[in-house]
Amino acid sequence: MKNYILFFLAIFTLTTFCSCDDGRIYEKEVDIQRGGRAMKLTGRFSGISNWTDDYSVVVAGFNDKSEYAVITKSLPVNVADGTDIVMTLGGISDDVKSLKLCVISRLRECIVEFKTMEDEELTAVTDTILMDVGTLDVGMFSSIQSQVFDNRCVACHGQTGSASGNLFLTEDKSYHALVNQPAHKNSDILLVKPGSAEKSFLHLVLNRAGDTSMNHTDMLSEDEQPLLKLIDNWINEGIFLNNE
Ligand code: HEC
Repeated sequence: MKNYILFFLAIFTLTTFCSCDDGRIYEKEVDIQRGGRAMKLTGRFSGISNWTDDYSVVVAGFNDKSEYAVITKSLPVNVADGTDIVMTLGGISDDVKSLKLCVISRLRECIVEFKTMEDEELTAVTDTILMDVGTLDVGMFSSIQSQVFDNRCVACHGQTGSASGNLFLTEDKSYHALVNQPAHKNSDILLVKPGSAEKSFLHLVLNRAGDTSMNHTDMLSEDEQPLLKLIDNWINEGIFLNNE
């Protein structure tokens, strides 16, 4: 019996020493990862807090192997619009090839990109990389405006002063032209019905060719499909977060 106790005691002592050793090595590794460069973001922001839970406004680092961020830090929410923010993201390792101010999904994929720094802008800096974005509206609807309407729609819907289908999607007009307004093509359906993306004509036009015969379903490329989801999420929930 005594032998058994001694035996277990020996094993116990051994494992204790081993784990101590492990601990120290592990700590060293963590320290190395914590090194690297830092980035300092400055800007005056509005709209940070009118995103739904599926998204976060962040500064993020990406390597060249994957579209998912390898390091992120969220901007503070619940700050008043027009607040000046100074924020630091540390521990940016060498495999980070681009830094972005962007909106990421829960999978840490960049959905909306406001500012990107890459290549020499990063490699030339050995310690703190500065990103100054000036005054920026990063709100959910503002992002749909800049990423979707301005890029893919206004050429026909309003930029020239006249709008196809009588629908103005230019900034300042788009929100009021869409929300709770009957479609010109079918006055039984609202263009945007708050809370019901699938009953909104905007959703049908962009996603369901058969229902509207509008030839709009390929307006966004394969890569831009998350933007369709963004529009749906905005109609379903984001619209209630006061982001006009
Ligand atoms: C190449 C020109 C063109 C582009 C680009 C375009 N549209 Fe259209 N859109 C039209 C035309 C033309 C109509 C009217 C079609 C009809 O009445 O049959 C229309 C109609 C619509 C309607 C229905 C309006 C209503 O009240 O009946 C919606 C919604 C719409 N477009 C959304 C968009 C969105 C969102 C984009 C960008 C992703 C976009 N369109 C890009 C030409 C365009």
